[in-house]
Formats: sequence, C-alpha cells, structure tokens
Amino acid sequence: MNKIGEKPVVLITGAGRGIGRGIALELAQEGFDIAGCDIVFEPENKKSGLFEVQQKVQMSGAEFFPVKGDVALLDDHGKILHEVLKKFDRIDILVNNAGVAPKVRTDILEATPESFDRVLDINLRGTFFLTQKVAGEMIRQLKDNPDAKHAIIFISSVSAAISSTIRAEYCISKAALSMTAKLFADRLSEFGINVYEIRPGIIETDMTAPVRERYDKLIAEGLVLQKRWGFPADVGKAVAALAKGYFAYSTGLVLEVSGGMNIQRF
Ligand SMILES: NC(=O)c1ccc[n+]([C@@H]2O[C@H](COP(=O)([O-])OP(=O)(O)OC[C@H]3O[C@@H](n4cnc5c(N)ncnc54)[C@H](O)[C@@H]3O)[C@@H](O)[C@H]2O)c1
Repeated sequence: MNKIGEKPVVLITGAGRGIGRGIALELAQEGFDIAGCDIVFEPENKKSGLFEVQQKVQMSGAEFFPVKGDVALLDDHGKILHEVLKKFDRIDILVNNAGVAPKVRTDILEATPESFDRVLDINLRGTFFLTQKVAGEMIRQLKDNPDAKHAIIFISSVSAAISSTIRAEYCISKAALSMTAKLFADRLSEFGINVYEIRPGIIETDMTAPVRERYDKLIAEGLVLQKRWGFPADVGKAVAALAKGYFAYSTGLVLEVSGGMNIQRF
C-alpha cells in the first residue's frame, strides 16, 4: 500500500477509455499513482476498460487502482473516496473527466427533459458534488500535511463557449461546469488548492466515433486551425503539466486543447 510521502495520487473519473485513459497513461509517466473510477467495471475484461488501463499503467511502474462508481450518484461519492483512501491513504489531485454526450443529437426545439437531466446529472450535478466531497478531504489532509500540493482539474469542452444547437444540454452542462471550476478556484484559494479547467476540442475517442466523417470534413474545411484531430494524449499532457505544478501561479486557468478552435476568424 502507498504511504504518505510516496508518489502523489490522482483520482481520474471516467478513466476506462478515451480522454480519461489518455490522462492516466500520461500521469503514470510523470510519477503519479492513479485511482481510476468508471461506471463500467469489468475485472475479467483486460482488452478494454479500467483493467486494460491498469495493465498498461502498471507496465510503466505506476500503480493503477480501478474503482467502480457512477459520478451521477451522490451515494457513490463517499464509497469512491473511501476506497481510494483505503488503498493509498491520500488524494492529491482530482481530475473530473467523466462526461457524456446526449444519446441522440436533437434540435434545441425538440430537446427532451430526459436527455437534459441525464447529461446535466453526470456532467454537472454529479461532478459538482464529487468535487465538494474531495475538496473537503483535501482540506482535512492539509491539517496533517500543510505543505501538500493539491489540485482539481475539470475537463469541460470548447462547447462551454461554442453553440451547437443539436446538443444544447451538452453545451449548457459544459458552460456551467466552467463556472463550477471558477467557483471552486475562488473558494479553495485560501487553502492553496489550485483549480483549473481544460477545454478539449475535437478529440478522437468513442464519444466522437459516431460523428467521425462529419468532423473529418469540418477539420479539412478549417474549423480546427491545426487541421488534425486531437488525441487523448494531447489532453493528458496538458493535465500532466497542471498536475506537476508548472502553472502554480495560475489558479482558475482555462486551458484550450483544441488546435486553435478558440480563434475567431473574419
Ligand atoms: N471526445 C471529445 O471530442 C471531447 C471534447 C471535449 C470534451 N470532452 C469531454 O472529455 C470527457 C471524456 O470524453 P471522452 O471523449 O473520453 O468520452 P468517452 O465516452 O470515450 O469516455 C468517457 C468515459 O467516462 C465513463 N463514464 C460515463 N459516465 C460516467 C459516470 N456517470 N460515472 C463514471 N464514469 C462515467 C465512460 O464509461 C467512459 O469510460 C467528457 O467529459 C467529455 O465531455 C470530450
């Protein structure tokens, strides 16, 4: 078991695939131990999901502890935190990555309350209350170890600022998540806990697989200045820079990882 004073421990939500997986692989290279939480938990499956990530991370010499949990269920939050502390006895960094797109892209004039609630429950409400719980634990740990360097990183999206009228609930969830990051940055500054937001652009994962051809076309037409898909490792490297403390004087930072989608052109 890891003890205080050994490697810093990161809890990543939605770590079983995609961007969360990419973050885990990068942080493992950078000297962190990892607790990876996901709603999908299949110990017998070593080809994909948390237990594939575990094998990959452990090959690089870091610890990876799979945790079953649904960020939308507030009752799961205590269990997730309890398991992480039982395993590592500390939590240094939280990466709020778990998130979903609407199951069906629907025009804002036809958007349903069911989809709205599902997306907001996972992307916003659940993430808000998990952060509240973990922040409380970080504050508690600071009493024993005042020099500890904690941080919280939110993975929002360029959709926090860009309108897509066929997935309004997603854009709304990410815009509100951006304010959530700002609010926690404000409140936690007195404890020296830095809070950051990363806005990925178009990243190649299972989430974007259904719209692959549409996005290929948009990228080729110039929507992304750097004219390529982003990869989970692009986001992972940005998280690693924040987690390592290279932006120590920048709490509240909003970091775009989007190949320049934030630049408006005329
Ligand atoms: N892929 C993109 O282009 C893109 C762009 C901007 C932002 N993002 C954001 O990045 C994050 C990761 O996206 P991705 O593309 O890797 O998605 P993904 O669907 O490929 O992976 C998401 C992971 O989160 C897990 N998950 C889903 N709901 C959960 C819940 N309630 N509790 C715990 N785990 C849950 C899934 O099982 C999965 O392992 C999301 O917040 C997404 O909104 C993605």
